[in-house]
Amino acid sequence: MSASDTTRVLFVCLGNICRSPLAEGVFRELVRDASLEDRYEVDSAGTGAWHVGEPADPRSRAVARKHGIVLDGRARQVSDEDFRTFHVIIAMDRENQENLERIRNGGRARLHLLREFDPDAGDDAEVPDPYYGGPGGFDQVFHMVHRSCLELLDALEAERK
Ligand code: 4NP
Repeated sequence: MSASDTTRVLFVCLGNICRSPLAEGVFRELVRDASLEDRYEVDSAGTGAWHVGEPADPRSRAVARKHGIVLDGRARQVSDEDFRTFHVIIAMDRENQENLERIRNGGRARLHLLREFDPDAGDDAEVPDPYYGGPGGFDQVFHMVHRSCLELLDALEAERK
């Protein structure tokens, strides 16, 4: 990858209303903070279609807002085209990753789990689904997503050098 290329990054969870919109918002904010907007295009999607067209879950929007991040996207489902368009596809948990591998039909995108980039992950490589839990789960998810996105951006920047 040359220094002038745009890196396209797609974050994926199950519903595209809780975890992946948060990861998208956090990563975009980190890119903006580093004045690297010309190098990255960021989006998110879900492996499932139940919530297509809906805004992010109010609990994700609330935790993002607490950290100065506005989530204003609408849920969409992953498509075949995404595997060709995006360079890097980042799954929140193993089930998302397995579903992505199953539906994949070509394309050049590299697949990773987000918490591969979390320095505090230990043996736990997944971002847990907070949908059925309380708001505390969303705070926890925010912090693991934030730690991971910092390292992910560092890793992608290092590839450009
Ligand atoms: P997400 O969370 O995958 O982080 O967006 C979920 C949202 C909705 C459902 C499951 C997980 N659901 O079953 O509707």
